[in-house]
Amino acid sequence: MSINVLLGLQWGDEGKGKVVDYLAPNYNVIARFQGGPNAGHTLEFDDTKHVLHQIPSGVFRSGTKNIIGNGVVLDPIILQREIEALQQKGVDPTENLFISKKAQLILPTHRLLDAAYEQSKGDKKIGSTLKGIGPTYQDKIGRLGLRVGDVLREDFASLYKHRAEAHKKKLDSYQYPCELESLEQEFWEAIDFLRQLNLIDSEIYLHDQLANNIPILAEGAQGSLLDIDFGSYPFVTSSTTTAAGACTGLGIAPRHIGEVFGIFKAYCTRVGAGPFPTELHDALGEELRKKGSEFGATTGRPRRCCWLDLPALNYAVKLNGVNQLFMMKADVLNEMDEISVCTHYQLSDGSKIDYIPHDLRDNVVTPIYKTLPGWDFDVNSVSHFSDLPESFLNYVQFIEEFVKVPINLVSLGPKRLQTLIKAETILANN
Ligand code: IMP
Repeated sequence: MSINVLLGLQWGDEGKGKVVDYLAPNYNVIARFQGGPNAGHTLEFDDTKHVLHQIPSGVFRSGTKNIIGNGVVLDPIILQREIEALQQKGVDPTENLFISKKAQLILPTHRLLDAAYEQSKGDKKIGSTLKGIGPTYQDKIGRLGLRVGDVLREDFASLYKHRAEAHKKKLDSYQYPCELESLEQEFWEAIDFLRQLNLIDSEIYLHDQLANNIPILAEGAQGSLLDIDFGSYPFVTSSTTTAAGACTGLGIAPRHIGEVFGIFKAYCTRVGAGPFPTELHDALGEELRKKGSEFGATTGRPRRCCWLDLPALNYAVKLNGVNQLFMMKADVLNEMDEISVCTHYQLSDGSKIDYIPHDLRDNVVTPIYKTLPGWDFDVNSVSHFSDLPESFLNYVQFIEEFVKVPINLVSLGPKRLQTLIKAETILANN
């Protein structure tokens, strides 16, 4: 038995939440391996929209165990709010939620530091979600962080104080206001709440599940093009968002990774700053934003929109070893006479490349497009993949031939039912 991995291949917001929820009945365990409350995984069913930030997306399927792995950074305040909001909707995630004692804790001062660092960057801001992600991973790598398991230590309050004091000094040096009273009150309430949850050595739990042939799905957050190493640095998040992150973020050996499901939107979006070669600054960009409701699930910020970028997709497919692709939000391209796809980048010396170069600053690459015929169909009238219009199937085929990986699922809307499967292999869980 191996662990299948599901992750985003673009700049995040590809629709991972919907697909994890869709696939969850085939798995006993769903495990988040990196990132934190900067994620906003949206799931829509029974006419209700749910947005999850910390909790894995298997939470709405009864019996599914949900793991927050050691690679995740956890904000106890946001976790408590999220759990209580779910409980108010009649879903109690606590019984089936297991949190790694080795996951790092986001402290209130990490959030303030995030804001201080961003402010100090002036017009070079990366557009962080300001959830404290970067500073928490900084402390982790600096061997200074506090971990979830530490909340069970009798000296946790003094560990916290020590760290918070060091952060306050840093905030002072940035001349950033540090009003902690109400934040700390919420924090201590949330720590008490956290102590009541299932805090475990999640890698041991997962090893046992593997040994007993229990199907496990690893759920990524953000997207490959926001990866700390391979994204458009420094406009990236602070974790390994690629498939390798599932190994380090869950304590799983590479040989246990099975299928790698790569999720991408039929077009591209990006929220926050940083290079985005095919960005549309015109009415078409606005149309995609409106039709796709492209506003951040965590921050509400309008997302930058553009045509599908195949060099970027190809790069992400290779970084992750993706062997099955899922194309999301294809319905947003409905009713367009023509659809453009970026197939290459042209460099300033006139040469053409089909991958992401080290330097992606503005004007370093010029996208080259191919135009394909658009389609028009009533999403509700299509219930089988093969019934999709010819031009839609041509678009699918064009992408498949470019990246040399099959698109085995297409999503035509936010609801569970608006999902068409081409190959049953996506349901394989071993
Ligand atoms: P941070 O991870 O909050 O520090 O943000 C770093 C960059 O990644 C910013 O440009 C964010 O907008 C972007 N980002 C972080 N998380 C997500 C996500 O879940 N979806 C899309 N963009 C994200």
